[in-house]
Amino acid sequence: MASLLVTGGAGFIGSNFVHYWLRSHPGDSVTVLDSLTYAGNLASLEPARAEQRFRFIHGDILDRECVDRILSDHSIDTIVHLAAESHVDRSIHGPGAFIQANLVGTYTLLEAARTCWLKDGSPGNGRFHHVSTDEVYGSLGPEDPAFDEDTSYAPNSPYSASKAGSDHLVRAYHHTYGLEVTTSNCSNNYGPYQFPEKLIPLMLVNALHGRALPIYGDGMNVRDWLFVEDHCRGIEAVLLHGRSGRTYCIGGNTERTNMEIVRQLCLHLDERLGSEPSLQERFPDCPASSGSTCGELVSFVKDRPGHDRRYAIDATRIEGELGFRPVESFESGLALTIDWYLRNESWWRGIMDGSYRQWIDTNYGS
Ligand code: NAD
Ligand code: DAU
Repeated sequence: MASLLVTGGAGFIGSNFVHYWLRSHPGDSVTVLDSLTYAGNLASLEPARAEQRFRFIHGDILDRECVDRILSDHSIDTIVHLAAESHVDRSIHGPGAFIQANLVGTYTLLEAARTCWLKDGSPGNGRFHHVSTDEVYGSLGPEDPAFDEDTSYAPNSPYSASKAGSDHLVRAYHHTYGLEVTTSNCSNNYGPYQFPEKLIPLMLVNALHGRALPIYGDGMNVRDWLFVEDHCRGIEAVLLHGRSGRTYCIGGNTERTNMEIVRQLCLHLDERLGSEPSLQERFPDCPASSGSTCGELVSFVKDRPGHDRRYAIDATRIEGELGFRPVESFESGLALTIDWYLRNESWWRGIMDGSYRQWIDTNYGS
């Protein structure tokens, strides 16, 4: 029976991880610590909140006293650290919050874990798993080999630099103090509960409303895409079987240009709305509701400053050592995602408030 602390558990990957873990590990308890920034949403945890093995604590990873109390009160033996500021565009306009949450926040958690778990000098009291990103490796050219665990760090945005710094801190706490740690560096996730500022849910919600689909630059930037539940399975594999001190790259083997992603999403919506009158009634402004195509909403806008051209993951290590492979293809994962957003309109309507749209218009108007 493990007692997990999931930081950032009210966010996109965190909430998916909590649901996945409670389902797959019926003997374990899960405590979420989340400060509920704009990206945190208690509604995403609704299905878990009825469970006795689950508790939610509204607090900040920067609050050392709060973290100390949680570790000791709930006999935490595993930290799955996901709390972070996660959106690259926001980091460009306000890097300070990223340094605080991602760098100082990770440092605060590491110090708390070190104090609690290493106090009797034995290293086996707990495991700190750090969830990181492929963006720490920088940008690839079209012919470059994919990132792997030995790729040099070359972060390009304030977001990726803050994540890179946190990765180094995690590594140092293992090397210097013997804290049991693992780190996973994952590619772009998509799926249920993702805040509609990230590419796929943003384009989906915009298309349903007949709003422009803003493609940065030429739309030929490439990302590797992984369905969020597969990421949760990857984290699980590392937690259960990964070696302490080791890093694992997690990817979906699905490199796509942004244009390919948006085109595929549009075709899918054209098909669903074109054939389901109830969806046409709910989303009358979507071009597919009146026999036209969502693709006509595509609009090229100014590029993201410092926009990384290509990410790709070589997942040989996690496949070979831990036997992990994604279950969903991009096609099946996208279908699941679209279906979830269509069935959970109240979830995304609840978070699409005016101030957010104003921020996007101010910073990324065409
Ligand atoms: P998210 O923005 O959806 O959620 C982040 C959560 O952290 C929110 O619930 C927020 O309230 C919480 N949070 C932020 N600052 C906090 C603080 N100081 N104290 C407590 N809680 C705080 O992010 P996500 O997309 O779910 O990403 C989760 C983690 O996975 C991040 O560390 C991110 O870097 C990493 N990651 C994300 C992706 C991706 O594609 N989304 C890919 C690889 C790695
Ligand atoms: O690679 C992992 C990373 O993936 C995570 O570490 C980050 O937390 C996560 O946000 C994501 O970063 P990206 O910058 O790749 O994701 P985003 O959804 O913001 O953008 C994906 C691509 O789509 C990127 O090339 C920028 C482009 N884009 C994005 C938006 C929001 C557009 O063209 N238009 C848009 O409106």
